[in-house]
Amino acid sequence: MSIIILAIESSCDDTSAAVSKDAKILANVIAGQKVHELWGGVVPELASRAHQQNIVPVVDLAIQQAGISREEISAVAFTRGPGLIGSLLVGVSFAKAFALAKNLPLIEVNHMQAHILSHFIDSNPSFPFLCLTVSGGHTQIVLVKNFLEMEVIGETLDDAAGEAFDKSAKLLGLPYPGGPLIDKYSKQGDATKFLFPEPQIKDFDFSFSGVKTSILYFLQRETKKNPDFIQENLYDLCASIQKTIVDILLKKLEKAAKKLNIKEIALAGGVSANSELRTRFEELGKKNSWATYIPAFEYCTDNAAMIAIAAHYKFLNNEFSNQQAEPLARYHL
Ligand code: KG4
Ligand code: ZN
Repeated sequence: MSIIILAIESSCDDTSAAVSKDAKILANVIAGQKVHELWGGVVPELASRAHQQNIVPVVDLAIQQAGISREEISAVAFTRGPGLIGSLLVGVSFAKAFALAKNLPLIEVNHMQAHILSHFIDSNPSFPFLCLTVSGGHTQIVLVKNFLEMEVIGETLDDAAGEAFDKSAKLLGLPYPGGPLIDKYSKQGDATKFLFPEPQIKDFDFSFSGVKTSILYFLQRETKKNPDFIQENLYDLCASIQKTIVDILLKKLEKAAKKLNIKEIALAGGVSANSELRTRFEELGKKNSWATYIPAFEYCTDNAAMIAIAAHYKFLNNEFSNQQAEPLARYHL
């Protein structure tokens, strides 16, 4: 019999539902939330309200697009954490109610684990592999031993890589989320125009708050001399900032791959949508004879397809949750 999973993702500001059948994605519907743009960041209370409005139509559409009936579903999966507690609560409550109504088993999924398992939607890395997970909330290098066993070997001590992009964009006066805009403007800029210092952090850990502060002080100094400095140099500033962040990420990844002697290397999370990171990751892979993996664009940022895939492997391993499950804002791998 086929395993059909209905999966719900609501950890931040995207409401998503997906349906998988035997680990193949039949539907992956994502409703973004425009309300946060005005505020320069995700407003948790607005996010959970928008999830409440979106969740029913998003799930309906996913089931419709998948071309399945509710009676065929084998289990309901949900993101338990990490994430914004109010946002998670909407997805968890919806999943529990759906499972209760249809008498279905529940499967809880760790969002970071799901970002890593998103690789198995379209490809098939061999274990063990290393995954650099870079999102708005997290920056980790993870040793992936099998579908369910993973070890964080390095992580950020302060800001996440996505935050570094978004906060730098904010300093440049760009709207939230600034990561994709920095990516876009960088294409027309000179990345060697401005140099920002790289932090010296031990082993495979990262730090981005120093970079952000040095950008802040640099901009303050320059705009004092020339109030139009940012507008006149926007593209070069974007390219230089992007290069600094990508340099930091790839240096640590290469160091970890060499130290652990692993040549199966993957990239996951929202920031893996960044075009410079993608290109230079592939180049680094060629140089080091790595087999490299990057999820398709729609599976890089938050989505429920990755929750469905993670849940599929939990289903095979008989790992079920129950009606007592509560969301977790912090949830380690
Ligand atoms: O994984 P994700 O969708 O949500 C979290 O779990 O955080 O990641 C969102 C992050 C945001 O910080 C956003 O600015 C960043 O990914 N991002 C990018 C790009 N696309 C998304 N950063 C740089 N370049 C991009 N093209
Ligand atoms: Zn994410």
